[in-house]
Amino acid sequence: MNPLGLMMTVILFLGMGWGHASAEEEATAPTTIVIPQDKALLHETTLNIVLKIDTKRVDQIQLWTSLGRKTFDLNASKAYYCTSISLRLGENRLDVRSYKNNVLVSEQVRHFYVTSPIYQEFKYPPAKYQRQFFHTDANERACKSCHDMSVNEIKGVAFIDVTKSNCYNCHHHITRAKYGHAPAVNWLCTSCHNGETGHDNHEYQGKSKYLVPEPVNKLCFRCHKKNFKLWKSYRYRHEPLDSGRCNKCHNSHASAYKMFIRKPVNSICMGCHKDKQTRARLQGSKCEGASTNKQCIACHTPHASSREFFLKETSSKKHHDRNVTRPRKDNS
Ligand code: HEC
Ligand code: HEC
Ligand code: HEC
Ligand code: HEC
Ligand code: HEC
Ligand code: HEC
Ligand code: HEC
Repeated sequence: MNPLGLMMTVILFLGMGWGHASAEEEATAPTTIVIPQDKALLHETTLNIVLKIDTKRVDQIQLWTSLGRKTFDLNASKAYYCTSISLRLGENRLDVRSYKNNVLVSEQVRHFYVTSPIYQEFKYPPAKYQRQFFHTDANERACKSCHDMSVNEIKGVAFIDVTKSNCYNCHHHITRAKYGHAPAVNWLCTSCHNGETGHDNHEYQGKSKYLVPEPVNKLCFRCHKKNFKLWKSYRYRHEPLDSGRCNKCHNSHASAYKMFIRKPVNSICMGCHKDKQTRARLQGSKCEGASTNKQCIACHTPHASSREFFLKETSSKKHHDRNVTRPRKDNS
């Protein structure tokens, strides 16, 4: 492709949509932060960054956060720089410093908030942070000259080489953890992010072509039908399950913990039940967990049970349930 034409396309569409949080400051700055927007509310601790740089005026970029610094020297023939950095939960500040011959020529600051559904202290971000979306046709135009923005999945067919997924180029970090969810690690991203489900997301409908429903359980139960039937049949269901927030405990993509739960089991339980635990300790509740180091799920199920407090079924009952979940005989 003709590099000049490519550049022109890029420049033409830059003014549209994404990335113009403070247009005046950026109009004169040699470095434009195309992504991310200021005051973005994020759910992941990896942040994608795209900069457009006037390499006549800048020869080095430094990205500073409280977690450290990332430096890169620029190649005069490249106008766009794409990278990613790590953030921590809660408030983060990103400082983009542009240098020429070791002299600071511009400095731009962005603030973000990484929220967590399980830690009380990160559950309620300050109102100035807002969910922001990227995938609209207008925003994607600025990337098209170098990235294929189309969906190249064949429904239900796993990628043999996941790097061939168009989504992979920009989102490769999302499945980089020990325990991965089958549809995500096979890069069948649009089996969940299929756009249609956006109709069930009233708060953000129309903001992105890859929305998921809110609450998310509808989506999960489309594939996990047996769980739906089983859990519905129980008398006691855990509140976050019943309200459809599977993603409070599970990361839909991958995590360092089995069943891709977001944190070790007891941290997940205690994230929401801190006060209960304290109360249990102080008032001598009959929860035996208060005085042992056992996993909460040694006695409780996280989902639903026919016993109060979601206590696990007795072993004979458990055997019965297993038959319900996996009706081997019915299948053969
Ligand atoms: C001039 C070409 C070009 C343009 C325009 C461009 N990119 Fe990139 N991008 C690249 C290249 C090349 C890579 C591979 C990373 C590397 O090795 O430097 C990349 C990598 C990325 C990554 C992965 C970064 C990482 O380290 O994980 C993201 C995210 C990304 N691009 C987003 C975008 C978005 C969003 C746009 C549009 C706003 C965009 N890019 C526009 C060339 C471009
Ligand atoms: C050119 C890079 C690029 C490509 C290719 C890309 N994405 Fe993204 N995507 C981004 C950026 C940048 C964001 C903004 C938030 C972030 O950094 O995670 C984003 C955000 C998202 C979001 C959050 C909702 C939104 O609109 O902000 C979803 C879901 C998503 N991408 C799914 C996909 C899927 C599925 C594919 C493949 C069909 C894909 N992406 C391809 C760069 C890309
Ligand atoms: C099993 C369903 C499922 C699959 C498969 C899936 N996702 Fe998601 N994704 C979700 C849900 C649900 C959310 C909403 C936030 C959450 O629960 O973490 C989400 C959120 C996201 C986000 C936004 C994170 C944020 O900051 O809010 C991105 C980006 C994303 N997914 C990309 C992808 C990519 C790329 C793939 C393919 C590898 C993929 N997803 C596969 C269910 C899925
Ligand atoms: C497109 C189909 C699909 C969707 C949608 C889906 N899953 Fe899955 N899920 C699978 C497959 C396939 C497996 C691996 C086979 C299995 O163990 O059932 C799996 C496995 C799992 C497992 C591990 C089960 C085990 O025994 O190892 C969990 C946990 C899980 N999914 C949770 C979820 C949650 C939460 C959602 C909603 C955000 C969801 N799934 C949505 C297809 C799906
Ligand atoms: C309160 C946290 C929590 C919520 C909410 C939650 N899960 Fe789980 N889930 C877990 C934990 C913890 C495990 C691992 C259980 C174990 O190892 O015994 C698990 C295991 C699973 C499994 C595999 C084992 C099984 O029972 O089949 C599936 C599938 C699953 N969850 C799907 C879902 C779906 C779908 C939802 C939403 C409707 C959901 N989960 C909501 C915490 C949760
Ligand atoms: C996302 C928040 C959340 C997480 C995570 C969570 N719970 Fe809950 N849990 C609730 C809510 C809300 C209720 C219902 C209100 C209440 O009783 O506090 C509840 C109720 C319960 C109850 C019944 C309490 C009663 O008095 O009836 C038990 C037992 C319980 N949870 C155990 C657990 C265990 C074990 C885990 C970890 C696997 C866990 N919870 C994780 C939010 C959560
Ligand atoms: C050794 C088994 C066992 C373990 C481990 C255990 N529990 Fe319990 N838990 C129980 C029993 C039994 C009850 C019912 C007490 C009753 O009958 O009043 C209970 C009750 C509860 C209740 C409801 C009582 C209340 O105070 O409102 C909560 C919440 C709870 N457990 C949370 C947890 C959490 C969180 C963990 C992990 C830190 C945990 N449990 C570990 C056996 C256990």
